[in-house]
Amino acid sequence: MHHTVHIPLSERAYDVRIGPGLLEKAGALIAEKLRPTRVLLVTDSNVAKHDYVDSVMQSLKAQGVACHTFIFQAGEASKSLYTYEKILDTCTGFSLYSGDALIALGGGVTGDLTGFAAATYRRGIAYAQMPTTLLAAVDASVGGKTGVNLPAGKNLAGAFWQPSLVITDTDTFNTLPPEEYANGMAECLKHGVLFDEGLFASLEHGGPVSAAQVARNVELKRACVLADERDTGRRRLLNLGHTLGHAIEKVSDYTIPHGAAVGLGMVMISRVFCPAIVDRLCAALESNRLPTHCEYSIQELFSALEQDKKRAGNNITIVVPLKIGECELRTMPMSELKRLLEEKV
Ligand code: NAD
Ligand code: GLY
Repeated sequence: MHHTVHIPLSERAYDVRIGPGLLEKAGALIAEKLRPTRVLLVTDSNVAKHDYVDSVMQSLKAQGVACHTFIFQAGEASKSLYTYEKILDTCTGFSLYSGDALIALGGGVTGDLTGFAAATYRRGIAYAQMPTTLLAAVDASVGGKTGVNLPAGKNLAGAFWQPSLVITDTDTFNTLPPEEYANGMAECLKHGVLFDEGLFASLEHGGPVSAAQVARNVELKRACVLADERDTGRRRLLNLGHTLGHAIEKVSDYTIPHGAAVGLGMVMISRVFCPAIVDRLCAALESNRLPTHCEYSIQELFSALEQDKKRAGNNITIVVPLKIGECELRTMPMSELKRLLEEKV
């Protein structure tokens, strides 16, 4: 069963197509929407081990679109200015012009890198997102945040640049390592806690997500993007669990994956502000192979937070659950948040 979620951003509107078997249809969908002469398909070394690249290239060739590939070493370390520059060099080497397009086939790293290259090559060309991780399907591929990491921190160089099309072939999730699947589940549970008790209830006992559930996640993210495309207000709700989650990732030297860290961040913030949901949240995380106990002290986490160059002044804005399905933004002094966490976690 296929689903289409439309993102109505006026002249930058696009569709998110979700379902099994869509890789083979990618050429027709891209040709219809973008009409490129040439495309550069960007992917990573893990995704390239599967036959996904061949499927997409064949479907493009069948439409008369010339296709070139750029494959980078899988992993967050490649989300760098170095890889970004290599993609731009490949664009010029392949003579991509402004009517042509980039395709991001992979997880959030591929999507962010490719989107940033598309945002800046010749002052902006079109790109399609083809997410192959659950995390990228329900979050990173939608909403137009693109970028790379700098030595000083994650996502410090980037641009808002919406894709022209998102094609999610849910069959690609079948080859995800369990840990990567769990990372995506953490973001799905996050959407449930934020906005939709029904979605949370459908995920809390574990098991694979359906195309309909992926589509529901995209609809929930869409509402934030439409209300606040540039991330100055409502979209910040999507950071539930991320403030502490980022600190946990950093203190663990990135051995605790992003999704697991976000799950722990949600548990800790709920213990302080909404203890009534903690047991249900922990059970849902456990059913989805995600941890619920953070081994680091509040002191350790706050040392990491205080180094976070993105934080402005002594106040911090956090996302606070009110119940499963409803959260709000709250700004408070860092010292107060630290005191509450030390008291209640
Ligand atoms: P990722 O792209 O590194 O993918 C995770 C791993 O899965 C990689 O090893 C990758 O090679 C592998 N992989 C991908 N698809 C596969 C498949 N189908 N089968 C087997 N292996 C596969 O990471 P991610 O978790 O997808 O995304 C994390 C990144 O996304 C971070 O850089 C984060 O900052 C970014 N992000 C961006 C946004 C946004 O709005 N732009 C939102 C959330 C996260
Ligand atoms: N992943 C958060 C956002 O897109 O705003």
